[in-house]
Amino acid sequence: MTTPRLTVKQLFDRESCTYTYLLIDSETREGAIIDAVLETFDRDMQIINELGVELLYAIETHAHADHITSAGKIREMTGARLVYGESSGIEAIDIPLKDGASITLGHYQVMAISTPGHTNGCTSYFCDGMLFSGDTLLIRGCGRTDFQFGDPGMLYDSITQKLFVLSDDTIVYPAHDYNGRTASTIGEEKAWNPRLGGNRPRQEFVDLMNNLNLDMPKRINEAVPANMSVGINFDPNRYLLRDFDMNDLHQAWQSLPANALVMDNRTPEEFARGHVPGSRNIPMGTENAHVDELKQYDQVYLYCRSGRRAQTSTTNLNFQGLNHIICISHSGMPDWEKAGYPVET
Ligand SMILES: [Fe+2]
Repeated sequence: MTTPRLTVKQLFDRESCTYTYLLIDSETREGAIIDAVLETFDRDMQIINELGVELLYAIETHAHADHITSAGKIREMTGARLVYGESSGIEAIDIPLKDGASITLGHYQVMAISTPGHTNGCTSYFCDGMLFSGDTLLIRGCGRTDFQFGDPGMLYDSITQKLFVLSDDTIVYPAHDYNGRTASTIGEEKAWNPRLGGNRPRQEFVDLMNNLNLDMPKRINEAVPANMSVGINFDPNRYLLRDFDMNDLHQAWQSLPANALVMDNRTPEEFARGHVPGSRNIPMGTENAHVDELKQYDQVYLYCRSGRRAQTSTTNLNFQGLNHIICISHSGMPDWEKAGYPVET
C-alpha cells in the first residue's frame, strides 16, 4: 500500500508556450488534465496511457485565444468529463463549477476559484497547495485584458482578493510562460510581480493594462470559436481566413448576396468620413447589442481601420455564439481607399 501523493506533470506546447498539467493521484491512478492543447494530443494521450491513468476530468481555465483545446477530443477518447468555470459560457460542459465548488480527484479536491478579468469566464483551480492560475496570474505578469470581455479592474480584484489571499507558499502554475520559467509562489508574486505586486494601487494597474497595445494572438480568429465548442465539431475552413483582406472584401462586395452584410466597426465619425458603400456601422463595444440582428445574415464581413478593432469585435461576437463573421484582420479602410475602390460618405 503506497501513501497517496499528488503527482503533477507539467507539459509544454512550444508553438503557443502553453503549459498543460496532468494531475495524478499516485494511489488510485485517477487523473485530471488542465488546459490540454490540440497539437499535443498524441503526446498527452501517450503519457496518460503509459502511466495507467484513469482520466476523470479535462479541465479548462478559460476559452483560450492562442491555441485550440483538445478537451473535447480527450473526452471522446477517455470518457473524462469536461470541467469549466460556470461563468465561461462554453458549450458542451459536463461540470460547470461555481466559485468555491470542488471536484474529487482520488484523495484530493480540486477547487474552482472564479477569477474573471483576463476573460469574463476565467477560473483558477486550487489543489493540494498548488494553484493552476490559467492566464489570470502569470509568473511576473498577468493575462491581457483587451478582448474576450477582459477588464483590468476586475483582474486586479480577482488577483488581489482571491489569489493573493492564499498562503505565501502556494505554488503557482500558470497556463503560459514565454521566458522558460515553470512555476512561482503566491509570496513571490505578491512581492515581485511587476504589474501588481508590491501593493500597486488598482488605478495604476488599470492604466498600465489599458496602455499595453499588444498585437492580437496569431490564431485568435480560429481558436476562440473552436474553443467555444471545446475544440470539436467546428469547420476550420470557416475560420482560417486570417489572410482575408480589403481586396478580398472588394471582390465579395461586388456580388454581395442579400443575406450577407458588410460591417464597419469604427467610430461613427470615422464612418461618416468614408466607408464601404452599403456597409453598416456598428462601433466596437456595441456589437453585443446587435447579436440578434447579425444572426439574420449568413455571412458578416467585418472591417475597421487596421484590423485590430475588427478582431476584437469578432472575438466578442464569437463569444456570443456567432460563427459566421469573416474578419478583415490585417488591413482596413485606408487600404480600400488606396486601391481606388468606391467610397460612400
Ligand atoms: Fe488566455
